[in-house]
Amino acid sequence: MNRPNPPIVLDPTGADHHAEHRLLRAHGAAVLVDVLGVPAWSVTDPLLLRKLLTGPDVSKDARRHWPAYDASVAAWPLALWVAVNNMFTAYGADHARLRRLVAPAFSARRVAALRPVVESLVTGLLDDLAAEPPGEIVDLRERLAHPLPIALIGHMMGVPTSRREGFRSLVDGVFDTTLTSDQATANAVRLYGLLDDLIAARRAEPGDDMTSLLIATRDEDGSTLTEAELRDTLLLVISAGYETTVNVIDQAVTSLLTHPDQLAHLRAGRSDWHDVVEETLRHEPAVKHLPLRYALTDIPLPDGRTIARGDAILASYAAANRHPDWHGPTADTFDITRPTKDHLAFGHGIHFCLGAPLARLEVATTLEQLFTRFPRLTLAVDPRDLRPLPSLISNGHQALPVLLRAR
Ligand code: HEM
Repeated sequence: MNRPNPPIVLDPTGADHHAEHRLLRAHGAAVLVDVLGVPAWSVTDPLLLRKLLTGPDVSKDARRHWPAYDASVAAWPLALWVAVNNMFTAYGADHARLRRLVAPAFSARRVAALRPVVESLVTGLLDDLAAEPPGEIVDLRERLAHPLPIALIGHMMGVPTSRREGFRSLVDGVFDTTLTSDQATANAVRLYGLLDDLIAARRAEPGDDMTSLLIATRDEDGSTLTEAELRDTLLLVISAGYETTVNVIDQAVTSLLTHPDQLAHLRAGRSDWHDVVEETLRHEPAVKHLPLRYALTDIPLPDGRTIARGDAILASYAAANRHPDWHGPTADTFDITRPTKDHLAFGHGIHFCLGAPLARLEVATTLEQLFTRFPRLTLAVDPRDLRPLPSLISNGHQALPVLLRAR
């Protein structure tokens, strides 16, 4: 076998992801890595990655297409990522069936209709912040970046307000790659407990929300959606809705506050908030590596090596987004005026993020209102003291302390 020796062990703490991604890119289009003990090909070349994500040679269905599935998931902390039964891990017709059930709620038209809801949620959160005494340090992740997506997805999914906070630490746990296998299993058990409570509550008292809609679909015709698929679809949408948008808000605010020249472009009207959203998604994407995909056939690499049939593949979106072949010698620079801000932050192909229009709306609305209302916003700590989330998947900070106004 053409395995490089030894595989690069990915750091589960995510302490210096940029250095790690540079190392991965230095090994060519794809390199064998160790993902918490599981071998996989990290693909960092954007051309190859897009080809694999749109071609017929790769699947996300571990049960059908990953020979190492049984041996790997037993004690793997990321087992949930590959074992769920929803569109995220489905292949072919199953994927189309499961995605179709949820997709209409996230269409560009339905999301545009949510704009007033998003605007008023952001205004409410900023009103609360404005009530803080001048000079008070506030954690923007805690007070703004988290509550907005939680409120919005909670509203769409019919999660009662009293239960929304309960999901939060459990969803954080799904993205925390420093948990042991036992801790991750315990986290998943508690998460499924909350999902079952939610299903029971909406079954007893249906509402005008997506959970009720999916339950009705399931109860009318079990062949459209199994009970396991119902639970795991809720798990997917709630987790995706809770975790990722938070990180983009966090990273966009951090990047603007540490790059005053970029903020000046906005204030001078040379760029707009959408430029900030897209450049943040390119430069510091919310998802660094996405586990996992599987080769359905031998896939030759440009340098003569081969991803063998059945091998696992890791879509290394963050490393691809800064590839010099794509964005030139300034790929590492945060530049909202960059003419082409293309990125893979939402994936590519049939699994392209369903929540992209919603996430874009949430982040742009938040940034515009935040910087308009608090034009003197500053970081309250040295940027080097911002600690990354303990994750090789999620790309955000543990906290984002800011001063809303000068002291
Ligand atoms: C800025 C925030 C977000 C980012 C960066 C993001 C990123 C991603 C990525 C990278 C994927 C592709 C996974 C793959 O490679 O297969 C994905 C899929 C998905 N995302 Fe998002 N996401 C975000 C927000 C959301 C939101 C708000 C929702 C919905 C509430 C959502 C729902 C989904 C779903 C359902 C999928 C699975 C699609 C499929 O497998 O067909 N995402 N997301």
